[in-house]
Amino acid sequence: MSGPPLVPPLKCQGIKTKLVSAIQKIAQPRDYSRWVEPFCGSGVVALNVQPKKAMLCDTNLHIINLYRDIQSGKLTAAVAKDFLTSEGEKLKSQGEPYYYEVRTRFNAAPTPLDFLFLNRSCFNGVIRFNRKGQFNVPYCHKPERFAQAYVTKITNQVRQIAQVLRTVDWTFEVQDFRQTLASAQPDDFVYADPPYAGRHVDYFNSWSDEDETALASGLGSLPCDFLLSTWHSNEFRSNTAIELLWSRPGFYMQKREHFYHVGSSEDLRHPMIEALISNFALEGEEVVAPVRSQQALLAL
Ligand SMILES: C[S@@+](CC[C@H](N)C(=O)[O-])C[C@H]1O[C@@H](n2cnc3c(N)ncnc32)[C@H](O)[C@@H]1O
Repeated sequence: MSGPPLVPPLKCQGIKTKLVSAIQKIAQPRDYSRWVEPFCGSGVVALNVQPKKAMLCDTNLHIINLYRDIQSGKLTAAVAKDFLTSEGEKLKSQGEPYYYEVRTRFNAAPTPLDFLFLNRSCFNGVIRFNRKGQFNVPYCHKPERFAQAYVTKITNQVRQIAQVLRTVDWTFEVQDFRQTLASAQPDDFVYADPPYAGRHVDYFNSWSDEDETALASGLGSLPCDFLLSTWHSNEFRSNTAIELLWSRPGFYMQKREHFYHVGSSEDLRHPMIEALISNFALEGEEVVAPVRSQQALLAL
């Protein structure tokens, strides 16, 4: 990967734009024939690593449907441009009520285009659904949101992604991570970026201790390499799962400081130390040996 990272048309909390080059550097020397992501989110990591073959999965069907439509050619740059221009004009003239009209329309009958519109005009550019599975992010209060330059930017992102998808053999699946991990093969490389426990809780991102434990056991018994990104600590707290689940013989960890630009206010204002954890040795000066505290050992 050279130059700035390729930016996908979708924004989401926890997007790894800032980590893609580190992930790429770690994954590139590994010998694998298929890239597998159980939690692909915006897709930014795969879009930059650009493996020839990949399986990208997420339980959020709206994300998967959007990428499937770009892949099939149903959602082209031209279609996105027409849609965002005309919907953007309605937003400009009607303001807030129009945003909520589209949100209601999407929740009644979801389409990838309405999803794109909402994702790019909602507050903070997050993807959040309530417990009934309804998109519930409020309006960003920018009636001129879809000005020509912004529509062109999004349209170019759709075009770039469509170009990548034409040259690769990728599948997009709506599925739980357990199913994805169970289907991994010895020559796969799994990159896992789960929701952060207790940080962003919603319909598609609720993440329990049981999920984290199942993930640790699923990754720990994979027949192939994996790389996990999770949060390590910020100035207020540390991720207890690092010691409890991720510091074990055969796992390696590298720490990196990372700023989030979308997400909750705590994430926005403070740097986060991110942990990259793998089942193969990680090179570089930031490598730290996993150390189990007495307390963590007693808790097992
Ligand atoms: C931190 S985000 C991934 C961000 C992504 N790496 C990026 O850079 O955009 C976590 C993703 O996991 C998905 N997810 C949550 N629970 C899941 C589960 N049980 N199985 C699969 N995906 C899940 C969410 O929908 C969300 O898109």
